[in-house]
Amino acid sequence: MTLTPRPGIMEIAPYVGGEAAIPGKNRVIRLASNENPLGPSPLAIAAYASLEKDLHRYPDGGARALREAIARAEDLDPDRIVCGAGSDELIALLVRGYAGPGDEVLHSAHGFLMYALSAKGAGAEPIAAPERELNADVDALLERVSENTKLLFLANPNNPTGSYLTEAELRRLHQGLPEQVLLVIDAAYAEYAIEDDYCSAMDMVAEFGNLVVTRTFSKIHGLAALRLGWAYCPPDVADVLNRLRGPFNVSQAAQAAGVAAVGDRQHLERSRAHNTRWLNWTVERLSAIGLDPRPSAGNFLLVRFAGESGRSAEAALAHLKKNGILVRAMGGYGLPDCLRITIGTESETRAMVQALEGFAALAEAGPASEKRA
Ligand SMILES: Cc1ncc(COP(=O)(O)O)c(C=O)c1O
Repeated sequence: MTLTPRPGIMEIAPYVGGEAAIPGKNRVIRLASNENPLGPSPLAIAAYASLEKDLHRYPDGGARALREAIARAEDLDPDRIVCGAGSDELIALLVRGYAGPGDEVLHSAHGFLMYALSAKGAGAEPIAAPERELNADVDALLERVSENTKLLFLANPNNPTGSYLTEAELRRLHQGLPEQVLLVIDAAYAEYAIEDDYCSAMDMVAEFGNLVVTRTFSKIHGLAALRLGWAYCPPDVADVLNRLRGPFNVSQAAQAAGVAAVGDRQHLERSRAHNTRWLNWTVERLSAIGLDPRPSAGNFLLVRFAGESGRSAEAALAHLKKNGILVRAMGGYGLPDCLRITIGTESETRAMVQALEGFAALAEAGPASEKRA
């Protein structure tokens, strides 16, 4: 007799994160995981370092100080906040809480991969709705709602496409959903979105019983290593998550650093301004060499490459790697002709653009010159 995992588990292709090292290279420019290149707030680093004497103590299982700090910063109700070990954990808990075998979890075709993986983990079926030119399509999503649909996940802005739905579109999506479907807006990149018609949907949580917003400290707060995310929920959903989550799912280090990070508006503004400046600069420079970065409301760009050899995304990835630069291949998202590039520090971003300019020049000169290079 062999052990048999639950149906669906063996269909999960384990999530592959962005690469972090290149064999033989000591100095690597990491633009593969949408991290904040400026790192966390110095206040968060100090709060983290101050914990060394208390490592034998369990964390506060209710993360009260952190929830109150988030609530103060964002003008929210702390009782509706649930913290998790990254928003990944909250995504998985939401699926486990509301979907199982025979149920469907709806997402947009190029939505964040964890929605489909979490659905399979719970034995539910992920359903992908087609997009319009890599933008989530409200009508296509609504058309795919069936009586088995339990959750709909939408990343806004979306990783990896960088696209977003406006508040009007979000409201139309919510309005078209039956009450028994939970709409989860994953706003991991909310702080980077500066577009006037962007809305993180936080206000909508208070209006409806079936809408949750997830957020993370891994992106603009620069605390990806500590694994910290949070969900803003209707009370019933918060109750479900609090029953399902581990009693100490968020470490004390993450809680302490999170309190300090959320209070440091200056660092947040600095990080946002840095991103806006270098994102726009990168778009201009890449467009000038004939590449086609998509508009992005996040801290990354999805760049499409020509299909022919010597100019392909695969060749660009290899060229960047040769230059010590890691970006993200997009085959796992069904976009093999694209790369996703995180905006780095000024010098990292300049180095990446320079390498791509070199790549374009080589491709222009033809395959023979590439071999010589
Ligand atoms: C859209 C989106 N949601 C959620 C996450 C997960 O973030 P966390 O580090 O909080 O688990 C990511 C990470 O890349 C993301 O891009």
